[in-house]
Amino acid sequence: MTKAIYPGSFDPITNGHTDIIERSAGMVDHLIIAVLKNNAKSPLFTVDERIEMIKKVTSHLKNVSVETFDGLLIDFAKKSGASVIVRGLRAVTDFEYELQMAQTNRVLAPSVDTIFLTTNLKYSYLSSSIVKEIAGYGGDISEFVSPYVEKMMKEKLKGRDTV
Ligand code: COA
Repeated sequence: MTKAIYPGSFDPITNGHTDIIERSAGMVDHLIIAVLKNNAKSPLFTVDERIEMIKKVTSHLKNVSVETFDGLLIDFAKKSGASVIVRGLRAVTDFEYELQMAQTNRVLAPSVDTIFLTTNLKYSYLSSSIVKEIAGYGGDISEFVSPYVEKMMKEKLKGRDTV
């Protein structure tokens, strides 16, 4: 049985993430979406809110579960029995950082491989920060996130000036 992990901050999950999740879930027996806790990025959404959104958006995928992790990704991978880490590559700019992480993780645990999926061209410019910025200025984010995430974003930003 091949178990894989798709890690990230998911603050919030975007259609670009969902595209990677749907495609990678079709390649493995089980995919764990691993939400990083204690992120230096000071997230807008709490871990529980991020998990809730991910669960809603991926509820149609029966071999996907959502978990959180703290500390090193590779330790979480080993603890979960995952042999594959999935990462999306949006543009060349992602490559250097992703290569460094993949190489380091492979030294730390040679039995865990990282595979890269190229992000759908439609979402190659997308990031959670851009979505938050657009929403923060009252812009339309319906092209970038699911209706549920859009609703959560509206609720979160109610009463705030900008993100
Ligand atoms: N579509 C749209 N956006 C995407 C995307 C896709 N397919 N793939 C990534 N992104 C965006 C994210 O929204 C995020 O945007 P943001 O910066 O505006 O929030 C950005 O790209 C990168 O985010 P993400 O993929 O979530 O990675 P991350 O940098 O937040 O976290 C971890 C990466 C969790 C894998 C990494 O930090 C980690 O492993 N941390 C644990 C400690 C560790 O083990 N370190 C490594 C030692 S080698």
